[in-house]
Amino acid sequence: MGSFRVELGANSHPVHVGAALLDRVGTLASEAGLKPGRAALVTDSNVAQLYAMRALGSLASAGFDAKLIEVAAGEASKSLATLERVYDQLVTAELDRASVVFALGGGVVGDLAGFAAATYLRGLPLVQIPTTLVAQVDSALGGKTAVNHRAAKNLIGAFYQPRLIVADVATLLTLAEREFREGLAEVIKYGAIMDADFFSTLEREMPAILRRDPGRLAESVERSLRHKAFVVQSDEHEGGLRKILNFGHTLGHALEASSGYGSYLHGEAVAIGMVAAAQLSSAYAGLSADEATRLQRLIETAGLPTAMPAGWRSEEFMRALKLDKKRAGAGVEFVLIDRLGHALTRKLGFDEIVAGVA
Ligand SMILES: NC(=O)c1ccc[n+]([C@@H]2O[C@H](COP(=O)([O-])OP(=O)(O)OC[C@H]3O[C@@H](n4cnc5c(N)ncnc54)[C@H](O)[C@@H]3O)[C@@H](O)[C@H]2O)c1
Ligand SMILES: [Zn+2]
Repeated sequence: MGSFRVELGANSHPVHVGAALLDRVGTLASEAGLKPGRAALVTDSNVAQLYAMRALGSLASAGFDAKLIEVAAGEASKSLATLERVYDQLVTAELDRASVVFALGGGVVGDLAGFAAATYLRGLPLVQIPTTLVAQVDSALGGKTAVNHRAAKNLIGAFYQPRLIVADVATLLTLAEREFREGLAEVIKYGAIMDADFFSTLEREMPAILRRDPGRLAESVERSLRHKAFVVQSDEHEGGLRKILNFGHTLGHALEASSGYGSYLHGEAVAIGMVAAAQLSSAYAGLSADEATRLQRLIETAGLPTAMPAGWRSEEFMRALKLDKKRAGAGVEFVLIDRLGHALTRKLGFDEIVAGVA
């Protein structure tokens, strides 16, 4: 098991990564100083079938009497309507302000249960137990919680740090292949923007990672989380450095938002966005052609798409791009890499973006 702390002053908390940690969440929660007693375990319908019993058993043996709160699997559950049903069940469970909310599942459960924990009784202690690769390397750490509004994704939310993160990489063995590969886009991202050595390791070990070798998975998840922790520690509320985590996301989000391109999963759109960002990095930040090619190859090896769809410079795409949150006048604050393992931001005009992508 690999363990470290996210240092955020009063919001500091431990992170544990390893195999078969699900059976130890109760003990780990006690060790983190959480008070046994009434609690809630929020999960979704898929994860409930696979892992709820084991998690509940581990919690019970450490004295956490957790009520199981199950929501339907899928993004639609990140809604105010589902949130209200979660609140209803927290009321029924008669939780008090020291009662712990355990979020067991992917990013949907983590964001939803996290926001419920942030707001119910003005804040209950939260434990993230991520079970998808996306959640283990990205959403569980950083304190962003939210539900969607019909007008936009993640419109209603809060920064709220968990008291503990337990990432059991053995749970990834049941994840569908496409969802697993999607998460690899974010793993590759950390190598590309922050750690050339990690990038080389991924180049070497991608076949073992794709076979979901537990040792290699634990290593990749822990290194990814340590990188995210480093960024979040220096910029908890996304005022500066945290922006580099958006590498590949400006064009990726525009692809996701403009319909007519089929339905890319987030990580697939980010994969394409990273390849395009590497081309822009060669054009505007001096990234060598060789390193741009290595990034594209690694993304390909991970089984992710790399090419912008034919005719991507559509009106709809440009409209989505111009709506980007990082917009700055006639362009966007764009994350580029000048070499593998080092990111920077530069303001790029929309015309420069369109011209710089192959
Ligand atoms: N808070 C953040 O910083 C942050 C960062 C990235 C993404 N997100 C959010 O995360 C969400 C996406 O998360 P996701 O990709 O994990 O999706 P998800 O939570 O919908 O999980 C994907 C699917 O996998 C299933 N699943 C989960 N764990 C499983 C397992 N171990 N075995 C088998 N099936 C399993 C789920 O039931 C679901 O059907 C989005 O809403 C996104 O906005 C948040
Ligand atoms: Zn992402």
